[in-house]
Amino acid sequence: MPEPAIHEEHDDVLGRAFDRRLAGRLWATARAHHRLVWGSVALFPFITLLELAQPYLLKIAIDDHILHADWTGLTAVAVVYAAVLGALYGLRLMEAFLMALTGQRVIHDLRARLFEHLLRLEAGFFDRTPVGRLMTRVLSDVEAVSEAFTSGLFAVVADVVTLVGVVAIMLWMDWRLALVTFAIVPVLFAVAGYFRIRARDAYREVRRRLARLNAFLQESIQGMAVIQLFAREAHERAEFQQRNEDYRRSLFTSTRFEASLYAGVEALGSVALALLVWYGGGRILDGALTFGALVAFIQYTNRFFLPIRDLGAKYTVMQAAMASAERIYSLLDRGPEVETPRATRAPAAAAGRVAFEGVWFAYADERWVLADCSFTVTPGEHVALVGTTGEGKSTCVRLLNRTWDVGRGRVLVDGVDVREWDLGRLRRHVGVIFQDPVLFTGSVESNLTLDGDGGRVAVERALSAANAAALVERLPQGLATPLVERAANLSHGERQLLAIARALVYNPAILVLDEATSSVDPESERMIRDAMARLMAGRTTITIAHRLSTIHDADRILVLHRGRIHEEGTHAALLKRGGLYARLHELGAGAALG
Ligand SMILES: Nc1ncnc2c1ncn2[C@@H]1O[C@H](COP(=O)(O)OP(=O)(O)OP(=O)(O)O)[C@@H](O)[C@H]1O
Ligand SMILES: [Mg+2]
Repeated sequence: MPEPAIHEEHDDVLGRAFDRRLAGRLWATARAHHRLVWGSVALFPFITLLELAQPYLLKIAIDDHILHADWTGLTAVAVVYAAVLGALYGLRLMEAFLMALTGQRVIHDLRARLFEHLLRLEAGFFDRTPVGRLMTRVLSDVEAVSEAFTSGLFAVVADVVTLVGVVAIMLWMDWRLALVTFAIVPVLFAVAGYFRIRARDAYREVRRRLARLNAFLQESIQGMAVIQLFAREAHERAEFQQRNEDYRRSLFTSTRFEASLYAGVEALGSVALALLVWYGGGRILDGALTFGALVAFIQYTNRFFLPIRDLGAKYTVMQAAMASAERIYSLLDRGPEVETPRATRAPAAAAGRVAFEGVWFAYADERWVLADCSFTVTPGEHVALVGTTGEGKSTCVRLLNRTWDVGRGRVLVDGVDVREWDLGRLRRHVGVIFQDPVLFTGSVESNLTLDGDGGRVAVERALSAANAAALVERLPQGLATPLVERAANLSHGERQLLAIARALVYNPAILVLDEATSSVDPESERMIRDAMARLMAGRTTITIAHRLSTIHDADRILVLHRGRIHEEGTHAALLKRGGLYARLHELGAGAALG
């Protein structure tokens, strides 16, 4: 049964910044690139060492050479300093490069895995899950995760290594002065913590409002034609402006906290500096400290404050990454409900027999669409399935090609339960033409041979069978004519013709037409039926049609009502019976005449 969890998932929930289980899985994902990761980690100590060497070189330069007017010695120190700078630059470059590379590879891998996973999920999942949410998974969640690699976890480790080094060297140089500097730390943590939390809450609001803006935009663009047709522009504009304004406001709040944080830390840094100059100056006068040592100290203090200031930002990055990872893995863990079983069973003969045996089916809960529905279609038979709107005709088709699985009962194709078929084989065996043809961006030909191995001969045979050859000839570049998104450059009827041809390319043993010809003119429809009669001779066909006139000549007509087959027989027999079919027919004829 469908689970509701996906709907209740919130995209703006941030939890822990580190979760061992998730981190373990992330590591497993990144393991393919472990050399890159270890490569950048191995650079950390060297970078720290070089960073810490700089202020100390300054101290040596001042105390041992400048104050003694030793020009040659000073030059030597300057050369060493330049060398350290150069090496640091090189290592930093390498580190940034390795981290970015790791992040990008992880993004790439995760994205590929997510998309592959989506390809396996069943139709019901896509009904329940908003498109926007899946776009977020594949596009932004993977990026948030990769941030954990580029500026989250490893950057924190690097910072901690630096901090430990700085603290040690400061204590070693002059522990009294070091303690004076550290006195600021609790205040620093308090200020950074306060603004960081406020900034994070504000940022969460920013994301929420951005999501609302996106959702609105997406819907407006998709429905633009209808908006313009019903002159709803003013309403849409006002709504959009409202959301846009909300977004701007939240962004502003977030920026304010962010700015306060940075300004606060700067100010504290200045206070620390003042304390150092005051106390350190006193110690120089006492002869307990050299002038160079004080300068070095001031520099160390800077290197001490920056990582602490950025720790909060990295914490947020990690939180976002963990939340995204959680969502990504919960999607990946959600196995397809409909998939090829481990042990498949092939039918003895692919004759085209269909049997529904006591089928019960509900899309959700216990709202049964089909209730104890049974019927059979023998090989080569042409059966029509009729019923009023929403009665469950398309549902029968979805059960037949296993877009959904039955609740109870069985659907058999050539004597084998569809749940035992190899899915790919089943779907080539049962060709379905839907009410709403879906075509993709690409040429007409690529749309006809979706999995690429149709072959030109099969395409041409299918086109003529669907009477679509003339249509293709009319197109500016024939089979090579490009189709735009959703094939918007074709009429609905033209799209249906191509969809029919597409189903015929695979030469299926069972052909299902679900209102497939509702949008072509009666003349074309007749031609399609004639052509198909030729092609489908000896093949099983199930036709669903509202216009009953199109199914008079079916071998048998099944009338679906209240979830089961209410009556069945030939057109003449059913009319004579004077039941539901006769009534539908009367209404249909009336409508057609009126
Ligand atoms: N994906 C879905 N999720 C939930 N309910 C659905 C879904 N598709 C259809 N339904 C419901 O199941 C019932 C049967 O739908 P179905 O599409 O099979 O009707 P139909 O007989 O093909 O109707 P029509 O003649 O309009 O095509 C309807 O009440 C519909 O609301
Ligand atoms: Mg339908």
